[in-house]
Amino acid sequence: MAIQSISTHSFAGQRPGTSGLRKKVTVFMQPNYLENFVQALFDVLSGIDAEGQRGTALQGQTLVLGGDGRYHNRAAVQTILKLAAANGVAKVLLGQGGILSTPAVSAVVRRRAALGGIVLSASHNPGGAEGDFGIKYNANNGGPANETLTEAVYARTQVLTELRMSDAPDINLNPLGVQMLEQMQVEVIDPVADYLEVMRSLFDFDQLRGLFQTGFTLRVDAMNAVGGPYAKAILEDVLGAPAGSVVNAVPLEDFGGLHPDPNPVNATDLIDHMSAPNAPDFGAAMDGDADRNMVVGRNFVVSPSDSLALMTAHAKLIPGYRHGLLGVARSMPTSAAVDRVAKALGLPCFETPTGWKFFGNLLDAGQVTLCGEESYGTGSSHVREKDGLWAILFWLSLQAATGKSVQTLVQEHWRIYGRNYYTRHDYEAIAVDVANALMVDLRASLPGLVGQRFGQRTVAAADDFAYTDPVDGSISNHQGVRLLFDDGARVIFRLSGTGTEGATLRLYLERYEANPALHAVPVQTALADLAAVAEQVAGICARTGMAAPSVAT
Ligand code: G1P
Ligand code: ZN
Repeated sequence: MAIQSISTHSFAGQRPGTSGLRKKVTVFMQPNYLENFVQALFDVLSGIDAEGQRGTALQGQTLVLGGDGRYHNRAAVQTILKLAAANGVAKVLLGQGGILSTPAVSAVVRRRAALGGIVLSASHNPGGAEGDFGIKYNANNGGPANETLTEAVYARTQVLTELRMSDAPDINLNPLGVQMLEQMQVEVIDPVADYLEVMRSLFDFDQLRGLFQTGFTLRVDAMNAVGGPYAKAILEDVLGAPAGSVVNAVPLEDFGGLHPDPNPVNATDLIDHMSAPNAPDFGAAMDGDADRNMVVGRNFVVSPSDSLALMTAHAKLIPGYRHGLLGVARSMPTSAAVDRVAKALGLPCFETPTGWKFFGNLLDAGQVTLCGEESYGTGSSHVREKDGLWAILFWLSLQAATGKSVQTLVQEHWRIYGRNYYTRHDYEAIAVDVANALMVDLRASLPGLVGQRFGQRTVAAADDFAYTDPVDGSISNHQGVRLLFDDGARVIFRLSGTGTEGATLRLYLERYEANPALHAVPVQTALADLAAVAEQVAGICARTGMAAPSVAT
C-alpha cells in the first residue's frame, strides 16, 4: 500500500449547482472525473495557496461520508476513501454500507464535531446506470458549503494536474468499527444512531408511541431510497407503528425504477392508497436522500408551502420548539403562507434564494428556527439540511397533540390565515439556448411590465430577485424573475440548477384568497388566470413547443 501521485487533466463543467455537482452516472464514471472533483475539494480544504502549494488544514481532521445508495455509491465511497487517506485526513466516519441520508450526514457532522461531510446523492433525480449521480460537501455546521467554497473548488478543478491517491485494496463497508487505510482511520458507523438521538431530543416519543397504540395508521413511502432504513427504525422499531407502515423501505441502486421525488405526480402509489376507502390516517413520502417530504392526509395533499406555515403556527406543541421560534425563512418562490403566520406571531421572516445553503447563515446566527421551500423541503435548526423524516415526525406529533386530521388542521389554518393558492409548473428538457433566450427577453421586458393590467390585476413590481445575506453581506443576483401584482399574487420564473438534461424552466404561481367560502377550488383552476399571464408574458408554449408543463405540482 502506498500513496500514488497520478497525473490528470481538467474536465469542463465541474461547477456545483443548486445542491452540489450533479451529472449523469456515465459522466461520473469517466476515468478521473470523480477523483478530480474530490481532489480539488481536498486541495481547497487543505488551505492551498495561490502558488498551488497544498496546506495542512486537513491533517488531524475527521470527515463524514455516506450516500443515498444509488448506483455508483459504493464504488465512489472506495475512491473517496483512497483520496482522503492520501490527502492527510485523519479519520472518516462512514455510514455502514456507504449509506447516510443527507440530514443524517448533517447530524453526524454536528454531533461528532467533524470538519465536514461528503454526501453522495443526486437527491430526487432518478438513479440507476442510466440515471444521475451527485456529490456535495457540507461544512462543519453540517450545512451545504457556501458559494465561496464551491467556487474555489470549481476553480481548482480547472487547473489541477495531479491526484493523490492510495493504491490500497477496497475496504469492507459493512462491519461496524474501525479499520485502517494507510494512516487514516475509517470508522463504519450505524447510519441511524446519531440521527435517532437528534429526533429523540426534539419530539415526545412517548406521545408518538401513544398515538400508534390508539390504532392510528400511516403509510410512509420511502420510494426504495435511503429514507427507508431511518423510517423503519424510528417509526416501526422505536415508536411501535404497525409493521409494514413504511413501504419501499430498502434502498435500491435504481430506486426500483421509481422517480424518488415526493410529489403527487411521482408518488402516485401513495396518492392512490390515501384516496382508497380504507386509507390510513396519514401518508408521507421522501426523496432519494430523504431530505424532502410530502405530507398527505386522507384524500388530501398538503402543499409544502402550507406545511411550513402550519409548522410555524403550531411549533409550540412540539417539545423541541416549546419555547417558541427565533424566526422563519422561506425561499423566494415558496408561497407567502408562512409570512402571514410570522406576522401574527411577531416573528422575523426571511425570503432567501432557492437552495438550502442560503438558510445556513440565518440558522447559525440564531435568526431563524424553521425553514422551508416549495419543493417539498422543510427543516429546522436541529441540522443544516432539510429533513424528510423530521417533517413526518412533526406532522405526526401535531396530530397526536391536537387529535385532528391533516385535512382538518390545514382547513382550520386557511380559515384563520386565508389560503395561498400555489402551484409550480416545470418545463423539462428544454434546449438550453431556448431557455436562456426566454429568460434574457423576460428580463429585458421587466421595466415595461410595471403598471400593466392583466384582467383584474396590475403589475406592481417586476424584478430579477437579488439577495443580500443579512449575516455576511454576500450578494446573490439573478435568482428568479418576479412579477408582483397589486393583490399580492405572484408569477415567478427561474431556471433549475439541479437538472442534468437540457434546461428546466420553473414557473411558480401564487395568489391569496381570504374568503373561506372560496377555499375549495381545485388549485390549477384557481391559478389558471395567472398561468395565462405567464404565457402571455414569456411565450413559453411558442418558444418551447410544449403545450403544457411536463409536471405541475
Ligand atoms: C431544486 C428545488 C430547490 C431545492 C433543490 C435541492 O432546485 O427547486 O428548492 O433546494 O432542488 O433539493 P432547482 O432545480 O430548482 O435549482
Ligand atoms: Zn433530496
